[in-house]
Amino acid sequence: MKTIGVIGAGLMGTGIAQTCAQAGLDVVLCDVDIAIAEKAKANIAKQLARQVDKEKITAADADAALARITPSADYAPMAAADMIIEAATEREDIKRKIFAAVGEVLGEGAILASNTSSIPITRMAAASPDPARFIGVHFFNPVPVMQLVEIIPGLATAPATLDKVRAFAQAIGKTVVQSQDEPGFIVNRILVPMLNEAAFVLGTGTAGVADIDKGCKLGLSHPMGPLELADFIGLDTCLEIVKVLQDSTGDPKYRPAPILRKYVEAGWLGRKSGRGFYDYSGSEPVPTM
Ligand code: 3HC
Repeated sequence: MKTIGVIGAGLMGTGIAQTCAQAGLDVVLCDVDIAIAEKAKANIAKQLARQVDKEKITAADADAALARITPSADYAPMAAADMIIEAATEREDIKRKIFAAVGEVLGEGAILASNTSSIPITRMAAASPDPARFIGVHFFNPVPVMQLVEIIPGLATAPATLDKVRAFAQAIGKTVVQSQDEPGFIVNRILVPMLNEAAFVLGTGTAGVADIDKGCKLGLSHPMGPLELADFIGLDTCLEIVKVLQDSTGDPKYRPAPILRKYVEAGWLGRKSGRGFYDYSGSEPVPTM
């Protein structure tokens, strides 16, 4: 693959664009508003500058990677892409609208992939321009750092699509695991109930935010505690995934913790909104309970 289109210049889309550009691929980074796509490119420039400061990459490599990224507000420049990765908001109605619009530009033989964290691939493939060329490619945050990519073929995904996407993920330096198209795939099926359970533990007053996180960091050797990680992912995203698990399995064990639901309703979405289980308004995050 030579050119990748990325739709959605949020946290994940930005990370995917940076990783692809650093691996030598041309990237069209698209969002509804050109200012968002340009801001994402500016953020990538800052990340690359940090790597230059740490002498991990040369200034020339950083410049070259940045030059490979083209921000865009429309899909037309993605007509040349070998693969388009949708990394938009985790809502099926939004994704379906994107797939319909992508159908206008998706090249013959090009692949359409979704970075969905939990929406069924087979169902979304049915709304895509060509289900045989549709697949799930699930990255982890922060994308440039996390080694893993989950690949999820839908029922109609062609073996050639799977092979090409596996080769792409390996070419950008990631390790691949393959999952069947089941709710939450592999990692979120295990991770998100744990984050939800941490919110239950908090909500029932078993322990405060700091002790829950310290307990899991030191007791399980996790790099982040579950509440810190939930804030990092975004509490709205966590809630959406728990709801998908609950709705698609019908299993009440996946009911969202009331405190998680309440925080999302309050607009306390974690790091990105300045408050979640921690308050991010100062120089250091402060536990709120
Ligand atoms: N972009 C690029 N690089 C970043 C970065 C970012 N956003 N954040 C951190 N880094 C780099 C740093 O530059 C540093 O690089 P270096 O080792 O080459 O100098 C390295 O990562 C470590 O960063 P820091 O020293 O600043 O901080 P930490 O050592 O505390 O690590 C962390 C930060 C990598 C985020 C670590 O805490 C971690 O691994 N946390 C767990 C993250 C995780 O579980 N992610 C998965 C979430 S689930 C998901 O994404 C799926 C979705 O569907 C919900």
